[in-house]
Amino acid sequence: MAYAITQTCCNDASCVKVCPVNCIHPTPDEPDFGTAEMLHIDPATCIDCGACADACPVEAIFPVEELTGPLKPYAEVNAAYYAGRSPSPRAADVAPNFHSWGPPRFTRTIPGDFPPLDVAVVGTGPAGMYAVEDLLLHTNARVTLIDRLPVAGGLVRYGVAPDHPSTKKIGETFTRFHTHPRLRMRLGVEVGEDVTADELAAQHDAVIYAVGASSARRLGIAGEDLPGSIAATTLVGWYNGHPDVSADAVGLSAGRAVVVGNGNVALDVARILTANPDALESTTISRAALARLRSSEVREVVLLGRRGPREAACTTPELLALTQREDIELVVDTHDPRIAEDIDAAPAGSKASLLRGATRETVDWSAPPSRGRRRIVFRFHSAPREFLGDEQVRGLRVSGPNDDVEIGSGLVVRAIGYRGTELPGLPFDQGSGTIPHTGGRVDGQPGTYVVGWIKRGPSGGIGANRTCAQETVGALLDDAIAGRLPAARRRGSAKRAMSLARRLRGHA
Ligand SMILES: Cc1cc2nc3c(=O)[nH]c(=O)nc-3n(C[C@H](O)[C@H](O)[C@H](O)COP(=O)(O)OP(=O)(O)OC[C@H]3O[C@@H](n4cnc5c(N)ncnc54)[C@H](O)[C@@H]3O)c2cc1C
Ligand SMILES: NC(=O)c1ccc[n+]([C@@H]2O[C@H](COP(=O)([O-])OP(=O)(O)OC[C@H]3O[C@@H](n4cnc5c(N)ncnc54)[C@H](OP(=O)(O)O)[C@@H]3O)[C@@H](O)[C@H]2O)c1
Ligand code: SF4
Ligand code: SF4
Repeated sequence: MAYAITQTCCNDASCVKVCPVNCIHPTPDEPDFGTAEMLHIDPATCIDCGACADACPVEAIFPVEELTGPLKPYAEVNAAYYAGRSPSPRAADVAPNFHSWGPPRFTRTIPGDFPPLDVAVVGTGPAGMYAVEDLLLHTNARVTLIDRLPVAGGLVRYGVAPDHPSTKKIGETFTRFHTHPRLRMRLGVEVGEDVTADELAAQHDAVIYAVGASSARRLGIAGEDLPGSIAATTLVGWYNGHPDVSADAVGLSAGRAVVVGNGNVALDVARILTANPDALESTTISRAALARLRSSEVREVVLLGRRGPREAACTTPELLALTQREDIELVVDTHDPRIAEDIDAAPAGSKASLLRGATRETVDWSAPPSRGRRRIVFRFHSAPREFLGDEQVRGLRVSGPNDDVEIGSGLVVRAIGYRGTELPGLPFDQGSGTIPHTGGRVDGQPGTYVVGWIKRGPSGGIGANRTCAQETVGALLDDAIAGRLPAARRRGSAKRAMSLARRLRGHA
C-alpha cells in the first residue's frame, strides 16, 4: 500500500515537511519544484503513516486503494514520476539529514531584543496570507491586513472554480490567522483610493503589497470590445459572485462559446459552461449564475490554442480531470495533420497523450451541434484574427493551416491571462504588468515589498505563493535587522496619523 497525491495538489509543500521518510518530491529545495505541476509520493518508500494526508490543506492525498473514479489514474501518475529516475530523488540521495531528529531549525532568526515591527499587508489572497503566516509565526510583528473587497480570500474566494471545493478549502488555512491577536483586519479599504501608499508607508515600518493581477490581458484585434466578447476575469467573477461583476454580465443564449486560450482558466470556464447545473447546486457558485446556467443554450465550447497539443497551457491534472467527465464529449478538431501526429506520438502519461481518447473530426463550423451531449472542442494551431459582427459578436475569424476560418459564436471568452494594475505611488512595469522589485524589495522604495502575482506575474498555483512569500518576508526581516528600514516612517504628522487611523477604523 502507499499514498498518492491527486488532482487538487496546489504545491504548497505542507506534506513534504511532515513525511518521516522524505518520499514526496520535488521538495521546495529541488530544482524542478518551480516547474512541477504537482508533487508526487514515491510508492516504493512510502510507509503509509498518513501524516501527509492530515497535513494537506486541499484534501489531495489518499491511500492508493481508496482512489476511485477520476482519481484512479493518480496511483500511476505518482509512480511514473519516480520511474527510471537515476539517481532516485529519495531521502538518502537528495538530503540525507533532512529528517534526522537533530536540534530544531529556525527558519527566521531575529535578535531577542528586537522591537516588534508594524507591518501592513495589502491583499488577503494566498500571497498576502502566506506573508502574514510567516510574519505571525516566526516574528513578533504586528500586522495590519487590508483588502479592497468586503470579503477576504482573493482568488481563492473569487477565482478558484466552484466545482473545485477541496481547493477552496485552503481558505480555511488562511482564515485562522484573521483572528490572531497581533493582526487587525481592515476589509473594504482600497489602497490608492481610501488610503494612499504614502500614508500607509508613514504609519508602518514596512508595507507588503500582495494585490494580485486583477485585470485582463488584451488581444489587440478588431472587435475585441463588442458585446458578447468578454474577458475570463468577468466570467470567473460572475460565477463566483465577485462584487465588481454584475449578475447579468454573461449571456448564455449562444449555442457555441469560443474560449481563446487553453490554460487552466480556459478549462475552468469550459467546465462551468458545460456543467450539469444540478451538480453545482451545493457549491459556492453565485445563485444568479446558476439560474442562468439552468437556461443556458450553450451546447459546444471551443478551446482555441495558438500552438499544438504538446504546448497546451493547462496542467496535466486539470486536463486529465476533463477527460474523465462522462457527461460531455471531448473533441479534437483535426484540421491540421500535425495535431493527430503530435497526439499519437506523445509519450504515455504526457499531457498531449491524454487527448488520445477524444473524438477526432474536422469540425463543421457553420453551426453548433443541436443535440447529444455537450461538447468541448480543442482547436489547436489557430490564432484569433478578428471578431466578427457589428453590434454584437457573431463569431471569430481564426487562422487555419491554409486559410483563415470563421467560427460562428455569440459568446467569445478571452482567457489569455490576467494582468496587474498600476497602484498610485508605486513604480509599475507596463510590459509585464508587475511592480519592479529585487528579491521582493520594491525598486527605489525602501521599506516597501511585493509578493505573489503582482511580483512574479500572473502564473503559478496557490502554493507557489508560499515560497514567494518566504523570499519577500526574508528580505523585509534582513532589512529590519540591518537597519535598512526608513527611520522616520512611523512618525508622519500627528494629524495625518489620526486621519489614517480614522479611515482604517471606519472599515473594520
Ligand atoms: C480563475 C482562476 C482560478 C484559479 N484556480 C486555482 C486552483 O484551482 N488551484 C491553484 O493552485 N491555483 C489556482 N489559481 C491561481 C491562484 O489563484 C493564484 O496563484 C493566487 O491567487 C495569486 O495570489 P495573490 O495573492 O498574488 O493574488 P490574489 O489572490 O488575486 O489576491 C489579491 C488581493 O489583493 C486585493 N487588492 C487588490 N488591489 C488592492 C488595493 N489597491 N487595495 C487593497 N486590496 C487590494 C484583492 O482584492 C485581492 O483580495 C487560479 C487563478 C485564477 C485566475
Ligand atoms: N490548478 C488550477 O486548477 C488552476 C486554475 C486556474 C488557473 N490556475 C493557474 O493560474 C495561472 C494563470 O492561468 P491562465 O489560464 O490565466 O494563464 P496561462 O496558463 O498563461 O494561459 C493563457 C493562455 O492564453 C493564450 N494566449 C495568450 N496570449 C494570447 C494571444 N495573444 N492569442 C491567443 N492566445 C493567447 C496562451 O497561449 P500560449 O500558451 O501559446 O502562450 C495560453 O493558452 C496558471 O499558472 C494556472 O495554472 C490554476
Ligand atoms: S496541496 Fe500541498 S500538502 Fe497537499 S499534496 Fe499538494 S503539496 Fe502536498
Ligand atoms: S503516508 Fe507517510 S510516508 Fe507516505 S508519503 Fe505520506 S507522510 Fe510520507
